[in-house]
Amino acid sequence: MSANSEIIVRQLEEDEKIPYPLLLLADEAMEAINKYIFDSEIYVAERNNKIIATYVLKIIDNDTAEIKNIAVDRAFQNRGVGSFLLKHAAGKVKERGFKSLLIGTGDNSLHQLNLYRKLGFIDFKIIKDFFIENYPNTIYENGKQLKDMVVLKKDV
Ligand code: COA
Repeated sequence: MSANSEIIVRQLEEDEKIPYPLLLLADEAMEAINKYIFDSEIYVAERNNKIIATYVLKIIDNDTAEIKNIAVDRAFQNRGVGSFLLKHAAGKVKERGFKSLLIGTGDNSLHQLNLYRKLGFIDFKIIKDFFIENYPNTIYENGKQLKDMVVLKKDV
């Protein structure tokens, strides 16, 4: 949106509520979110003082950080906010001296895969049966059971 200039991205303060309703758009099980959320950094995007999107960054090692979750409020999707946040994350991790940024998604999550590839993320590895082993219920996406995770990597 032309309004990306009106979006402020900041780290969530420790005394603020974790934005679960947004996080659940990207990751449908609270128990899966809770596996990474407490040792990750949570960033929120605000417009007119309202949180409209979030991303979660986990430090993997000295060279690598990973986006564990990214979600844009439905009312603001397809206006460039997600792309803006992915570029924001890449810029921030570069500034901090990391060499690469990872992001994982379902092997059948075509919209997300396209978006990440368009922004310079390259397929890096496949984690077999990730969505079977880490989620209590079977997940369907685009009419197909979600099984494997594709992890993409961007050199920043
Ligand atoms: N105006 C119109 N369209 C635009 C635009 C603009 N100013 N800027 C970008 N777009 C297009 C992009 O080119 C892209 O097109 P494509 O689908 O053909 O590739 C599309 O809008 C989406 O990009 P963008 O608007 O940047 O993404 P988004 O803000 O919708 O965020 C997600 C993407 C995936 C984070 C968002 O859809 C979401 O929260 N989904 C639910 C949670 C989820 O699946 N998270 C990821 C888990 S892996």
